[in-house]
Order: sequence, then structure tokens, then C-alpha cells
Amino acid sequence: MCGIVGALSNRNVVPMLLAGLELLEYRGYDSSGLGLLAGGQLQRIRVKGRVSELARASADASAPIGIAHTRWATHGEPSEANAHPHLGGDTILVVHNGIIENHAQLKARLMTAGYTFTSETDTEVVAHLIHAELQRSQNLLAAVQASVAQLEGAYALGIASTTAPDTLICVRKGSPLVLGSGFHEFFFASDIAALLPFTQRITHLEEGDLAVITQDRAQIYDAAGQPVERPCRTLDISPESTDLGHYRHYMQKEIAEQPAALASTLERALQLGFQPALFGPQAEAIFSQLRHVRILACGSSYHAGLVAQYWIEEMSDLAVSVDIASEYRYRQAREPDHTLIVAISQSGETADLLAAVRSARERGNVSVLAICNVPHSSLTREADMVALTYAGIEIGVASTKAFITQLAVLFTLAATFAQQQQRISRETLQHYQHALTRLPQWCSDTLALENEISQWAHELSHAAHALFLGRHQLFPIALEGALKLKEIAYIHAEGYAAGELKHGPLALVDETMPVIVCMRNDRLTEKVLSNLREVEARGGQIYLIGEPGAAALAPFAHRVLEIPGSGDLAAILMTLPLQLLAYHTACRKGTDVDKPRNLAKSVTVE
Ligand code: G6P
Repeated sequence: MCGIVGALSNRNVVPMLLAGLELLEYRGYDSSGLGLLAGGQLQRIRVKGRVSELARASADASAPIGIAHTRWATHGEPSEANAHPHLGGDTILVVHNGIIENHAQLKARLMTAGYTFTSETDTEVVAHLIHAELQRSQNLLAAVQASVAQLEGAYALGIASTTAPDTLICVRKGSPLVLGSGFHEFFFASDIAALLPFTQRITHLEEGDLAVITQDRAQIYDAAGQPVERPCRTLDISPESTDLGHYRHYMQKEIAEQPAALASTLERALQLGFQPALFGPQAEAIFSQLRHVRILACGSSYHAGLVAQYWIEEMSDLAVSVDIASEYRYRQAREPDHTLIVAISQSGETADLLAAVRSARERGNVSVLAICNVPHSSLTREADMVALTYAGIEIGVASTKAFITQLAVLFTLAATFAQQQQRISRETLQHYQHALTRLPQWCSDTLALENEISQWAHELSHAAHALFLGRHQLFPIALEGALKLKEIAYIHAEGYAAGELKHGPLALVDETMPVIVCMRNDRLTEKVLSNLREVEARGGQIYLIGEPGAAALAPFAHRVLEIPGSGDLAAILMTLPLQLLAYHTACRKGTDVDKPRNLAKSVTVE
């Protein structure tokens, strides 16, 4: 959470900092600020609210060195006083992403030493601490090193000081930070997305790294304080990938990009077949010994993991457990030998997931497969095997194309287990290949039903509550549909396994309760239809998303949408109408679709 950007150049960095912050707003957007260093003078501009307000407030500002921040409040309400940068003494400016866990002890010590605090944040402690250390050492680098040695928690910090008027310092531990190099200019940011408009030359900092940036170079020091070289990679990401184009919202753009994202993600699987090599050179040996698969994830990625459980159990003889990462890390779950940890994450930076993976490694001799949309993220660097989703940069806080591509990778993983265990016929494997080949087109055909869904949204926008139902692989999709509606349309929604209806939620059903149902034509159809008759008998409004023929099976449904294709890939295809439903409902309610209140995309704090 929170986004930080820094820039040092021979030109005015203010427009660059603001452009970078805008691209980081998905990380937090309750307040923002700039800290500038020009001619040895510090200037600080902070606002409560969005980056657009900061841009207005800094219209006349100009400086060759600066740091900037967009905030997602952890310590202290959103306000100008709590916005970053924070001042240490009157010579240090600090921006921070993360949480300083021992801030209370440090604050007490600094107050005894005479420091006055003007905010409720944990970050102000860092600023004063560096100032105090600077009085001792008279050297900014030494002062920052001595300060971070005293910090507990997770942080990425950007630091500017009048005592080193041509220098910027940044340091990371537990929160992401990348360096960007231009022609006689350097940048740092929480995410490469913020740097794409200025440079494609990116260096990923490792845990504990600190960089001292001057006009000519960025010198990196490792956690032990030793100078190190880190590889600089030239990216191949078009800066336009973060443009909104003709779309009204990033979420709308990202929903529309799903057919292409699926095609890119599935390209290798369709060329190679369901081979362990898809998951890295070690995968063949590791997969051949597997007994247990433990899936760990948060949010929508967790729902993808739940779908995978159905697929893997159906196709292979592996035992599969799925855990919410924040719960797993505090459970005493044992990991038997030959367990594969599948860690699923769009960002690869979710703090709870990283902690859960580290904790799994302490519990047994496990191997870790990361399914991730961000190469060189913290997760991919810690994993033994990596399967990337090729969704492209996802900016809308509510995950869409990343979720869909996670499902595609997980389906290929399940089919790979099946093939390696010889549990599946050649005909079935060919059938899966064929379905995956057609998937992007089915996806486009489903998205073409948008007008119909938009009418459903008109009705749903008046509802105070909604119930989402599904069975088998569509149960997690019901959870995902409910999550989407909650997070962007602010309608209280719950996802349920349809068979659980009579164990509680049926008590809520009356004519004011929309019930959105995903149903396949399979061995569970009759059972779902029985559940729906129970809803109908109580006056509930049924919105049914089904396969061809669904309308005839459920003539009592209020609305029916029949989607093309589906079958084994129903979980993927039936997600799309639910995304569109949440999106159009949110638009009708006038909420901020891409930046829902209180949420952030990349949750880098516990
Ligand atoms: C946040 C986002 C969700 C995402 C979840 C997990 O809550 O708003 O869209 O599913 O984090 O994030 P990850 O990057 O680990 O998939």
C-alpha cells in the first residue's frame, strides 16, 4: 500500500513525480505529497485527497530533485498533517511505504531527546531518527544506515536532505522498490508502472538494499552495507499499456482485454502441450514425487485457488488444500514431504502471502510454485518455479484479467498433473487443448452480451443486498461475483455454495433479494434447479447465468443469460458476466470504479 516515487534529473522533476504518482494511485489515494530539493532548499507540498489535487497545489513548483507519495492510511486518518513526506528536524524529508512496527518505542525515545511530532504516522519516527543519527555522524548515508538498522517491520523509503543537496537515497526491506535509469537522470518507485513513461531500464532492489543516487550514478549497497551491482534490465512494455485509451475506466479496459490476455497466457501451453516444462526445468522431477498440493493466496487470487482445487482433484489423485494466506501463517498446519506450495498473486508483493510462503518453508521440505503477473516480483524471486500470467499491467483495484489468466494457468497445471500421472485419456487431453484454443473467442462472445448485463445492472443498482450461488467449480465464482459487487458497487453481497442455501441464507430471501446463480449443464444441474425453486417459492428474483438451454431448464428465472462454450472452462467464462454486472452496477451508482473507497490494489502490509 502507498506508492512512492523519487526522481533526480537536470530538468524539473515535478511533472515526472506527478505522472508517476498517478500511475501508483492504485496503491492508495487518500492523500498525497511532494518533497522537493532545489538549491539546497526543501519544499513540501501536501494535500488530503487525490493526486489531481496535488497537481493543482504544485502547479508553480519546480526542482531537479524530489520525492513523492500517495497514501493508503495505516497510522492516522487521511489528512494533510499525516500525508507524506514527513520532516525530520528541518533538514530531512522522508516518504515511506510499509509499516514500522517498533515506531512506539522509537517515538518515546525521540521525544525524550526533544523531538516534537506533528503527525500520527509511524513514518515521522523515521524522519526524526535519521535527523538524530545525522547529528552524530554528519553523513547522510551513515545516518540512514544507522537508522534502518533500528527499524522493525516493512518499508520502502525515499529520503532527501539539505545536508546532501545533490543526492537522493532510497532503501527497501519487505516492500517493493525499483530503480530506473535515464540519460543523466535516475528514478525510484514502488512499481515499474510509475516509471514506464520515462524509462524502460529497470533495476530491482533486493531485500535490504539501499541506493545512493546522484546525477552520474546510483550506487547500491546490500543489507550488510557492502557496495553491490544489481542487474539492469531493459523492459519491453509499451508505455501505452497504462493509457486508458477510449475507455471510461481501467476496469472496463481490463475486462475487454481478457481474450487477448488469455491468448498470451496460454500460448506456450498450446504449443508445448500439458508438459511440466511449462512450470520450469525442475518441475518434471518435483511433480513426479508430489503427494499434496497446498494453495495459498488472498482476495480474488484465493478464489482462483479454490477453483483449482476442484480441477486438480478431478483430474489427478493429488490431495489439495487451499488456504487464505493471512490465516495459514498463524495456523499450525503441517506440511508432509513432497508438498507443492502453489502461491497465487497478481502483484507478487502481497505481504500476507509472502509471509505464508516463508512460513510453509519452515514447516517442511516443500517446493514453491508462484503463479504471478509480475516478473521479478518478491514472490517470483523467492519461488522455486514460476508460471507467469501474461495479463499485462492491471491498474483497476478489482482484479479482472489477472484473475482470469490465473485460472487459465491453474487449468493447465491440473491437466499437467493428470497427464504426468497418466490419469487421463489422450482424447480428454485433446479435448482440453481444443477448449483452451477456443477460449479467447468464447470469451469475446461472452463479453458481447454486455448490453444484456447492463440491463441487469440497472435493476441490481436499487438492491441493498445480493446473493450469489454456484456449485462445484462455480461456487468460488459465486464468491468472486459477490466480492466484485461489494468492492466496487458497495452492495452487500454474499457468495454461497447453492447446497448451503437451506442452511441459513434462505432466511433472507424475499422479493427484495436478487439471487445471481451460475449453473452448468452437468450432473449437478438438477440439484441447483431444486435450490432455485426454493428461492422462487419465497419470491426471490433469480438472475441465471447458464450454458445453452438454461432458459428452458429454469422458466421461472427472472432473467437468464446463456453463454457460449463453457463446459470444463465454465469457471473462466462465467466470471465475465459477473465482472460486467459489478462494473455496470457501480457505474449506475456512480462509485469510483477503479479506486473503490478504503481499498488498494497491492496490499503490502499485514
Ligand atoms: C487486493 C486487491 C485484490 C487482490 C488481492 C490479492 O485486495 O484489491 O484485487 O485479489 O489484493 O492480491 P494479489 O496481488 O496477491 O493477487
